[in-house]
Amino acid sequence: MSIKEIIKTNRKFMKSNFEEAERLGIESDQDKKLPQPPLQKPVADNSVVIQLPDFNSSIFAEADIYQCLKNRRSVRKYTDEPLTMKELSFLLWATQGVDKVVNDGYATKRPVPSAGARHPFETYLAINKVEGLEKGIYRYLPVTHELLYMYSDADMQQKITDATLGQSFVGSSAVVFIWSCVAYRGEWRYSITSHKPMLLDAGHICQNLYLACETVNCGTCAIAAYDQALTDNIIRADGEDEFTVYLSPVGKV
Ligand SMILES: Cc1cc2nc3c(=O)[nH]c(=O)nc-3n(C[C@H](O)[C@H](O)[C@H](O)COP(=O)(O)O)c2cc1C
Repeated sequence: MSIKEIIKTNRKFMKSNFEEAERLGIESDQDKKLPQPPLQKPVADNSVVIQLPDFNSSIFAEADIYQCLKNRRSVRKYTDEPLTMKELSFLLWATQGVDKVVNDGYATKRPVPSAGARHPFETYLAINKVEGLEKGIYRYLPVTHELLYMYSDADMQQKITDATLGQSFVGSSAVVFIWSCVAYRGEWRYSITSHKPMLLDAGHICQNLYLACETVNCGTCAIAAYDQALTDNIIRADGEDEFTVYLSPVGKV
């Protein structure tokens, strides 16, 4: 196939296919009354879980929404200053925090919208400079607003840089947000029509990170240039049912 043909084929993914699902008479697993997948990945019994602190607007350096929108830019240079736990707690809440579980665990209410309220993402953090936290890879537990410690790796910064195709500002940032998609959470409800909406959802998360960073004197930069297998390996995702879709490093400015 020529490059032009590949480009044209790939465009199809950007278009709506609700009509196709209708035409093919596709029933989703939700239509078939199959059990709903869990709202977040399970937590093993012996896990190290860290409670995230409460925060309030006293941590905001800039609380004016107009200024935050106006100032928002991709930031690729950070100071050596660490983030505080309260700042990290705020950034996690702003991007994926759960305010309410509704309808007996059917859905969650969060600061970001999600098609069908499926919220098909997990948030992993590569923590390098956060006060009070050991360097390492963590997973956010949005329902309880906690962090699950996964592992430490002396080569983490270099591995993050390699995984983002040599973008060293990502590896040396204070903390890298890595979002994976647990695809079945969306597919359960929307079957073949789930994939485009799930990627649209990811954009909302990162935009909230940009704006939340503006309020606490941090900077971030959306990253879509990454190596799939290397990044999936960092977050221990299988690359099939769960895979990385987006990253964003954060640092003080
Ligand atoms: C989906 C997406 C992927 C991006 N990927 C990268 C990336 O891999 N590396 C990078 O340095 N910037 C990346 N960016 C940042 C863009 O280069 C940046 O948003 C653009 O130049 C506009 O600048 P501004 O965000 O400061 O307005 C990405 C932005 C988006 C929205």
